[in-house]
Amino acid sequence: MNNLNCKWAYNDLFIGTRNNVAMCCMQGQGWPAPDWNNISDINEWYATFEPFVKIRKEHAENIQNPQCKRCWTYENNNIASPRTRSKHLLELPYIPQIKNIEMRFSNKCNLRCRMCDANSSSQIQNLVEELRLNGISDNSYINDAITVSDFKNINTLLELILNCDTIETIELAGGEPFIMPEVEWLLQELINKNKTHLSIKFITNLTSTKPSVLKLLKQFKSIKIDCSIDGIKEHIEYQRYPVQWKTVERNLLYLYNNRGDNITMAFVPCISYLNLFGLPDLIEYAGKHCPDLSWGFNIVASPSYLDFRLIPLHHRTILFERIQNLDISFLPDYAQKIYSNFFNKTIYEYRNPTDIEKQELKDAIYFWDYKSSLKFLDAYPWAEELL
Ligand SMILES: C[S@@+](CC[C@H](N)C(=O)[O-])C[C@H]1O[C@@H](n2cnc3c(N)ncnc32)[C@H](O)[C@@H]1O
Ligand code: SF4
Repeated sequence: MNNLNCKWAYNDLFIGTRNNVAMCCMQGQGWPAPDWNNISDINEWYATFEPFVKIRKEHAENIQNPQCKRCWTYENNNIASPRTRSKHLLELPYIPQIKNIEMRFSNKCNLRCRMCDANSSSQIQNLVEELRLNGISDNSYINDAITVSDFKNINTLLELILNCDTIETIELAGGEPFIMPEVEWLLQELINKNKTHLSIKFITNLTSTKPSVLKLLKQFKSIKIDCSIDGIKEHIEYQRYPVQWKTVERNLLYLYNNRGDNITMAFVPCISYLNLFGLPDLIEYAGKHCPDLSWGFNIVASPSYLDFRLIPLHHRTILFERIQNLDISFLPDYAQKIYSNFFNKTIYEYRNPTDIEKQELKDAIYFWDYKSSLKFLDAYPWAEELL
């Protein structure tokens, strides 16, 4: 019988910003973290933690469990999911053993990207709390639950991780990992404990690349940096407010030119209707300045009011002309496939906004325009049609 076994459920541990744990970042919030003080062997806990055991059992019985619905949605629509993309890596016998840790120390961030939320960005959290204090209550964006919470017993958890010999990769995001003191501390600890054979992956907004951090990174065998660069100039500056393109560009080129053999980098733009029109510029920029980097692909599905499919087709005419002559031949093969499928097919999809999305968008605009010099409708006049 077919089964839905998943490599991530046997090898991955996600540690989130709500003192929560899951088997991978696709599972969303997951479960409250255990009291790490009561655990002496993190692999033993990982193999026996009841919610994880239940999910592994459901996968083996071919049950599409609700926690993994993001993968099932892809798969039920005949699209490769993180599970199917890594299925071949699951080896018999299936022994739960942590190989990858995805770690978000906090929501500390210096940006308030329009598609992000208070649980991932302290900047968004601060502004939401300010508006709540000002008595704004009838707004779904501002009312969205803030569940971010401090790590409990972080030092014990880090000791457990540092002493776990099966771990091969640590992925750091947040918040913004490159502005977190805990990240620098962890890198230094790994170096002190001769754990530089571990692969470290960062997901970063590239607003900070300190030479002291680069010096630490150089000591590891393998570093992967996913750069969340959504566009260039005004296309990144609105979506990743209040980022300055020139800062991101300077850091990108600094890392690119000093990356050495152990650091690989990837462009991973987050695609919504706020940056779609700028995607060709980003690809042209990359082709000219850093053509040999990897590429990821990330479409905003939630919040759904940012879905690029909501852009009326008659407003996309120039974009459609532009992509006809867009050269993507310098992208790695796998990325060429993904982006050519997007530019040949998906980009022509359209749907109407629902009434709920219209209201949620109005609420978000209120938040975005508060303390922003550039107002949403001045930047996106066509979006009047969505309201
Ligand atoms: C939450 S961020 C944290 C790391 C870092 N601050 C950054 O922006 O790269 C992790 C990734 O999630 C992406 N992201 C943020 N909001 C998203 C959304 N609503 N849908 C899909 N991806 C999103 C970001 O672009 C980034 O690549
Ligand atoms: S930089 Fe990352 S964490 Fe910060 S607001 Fe943007 S997407 Fe969220």
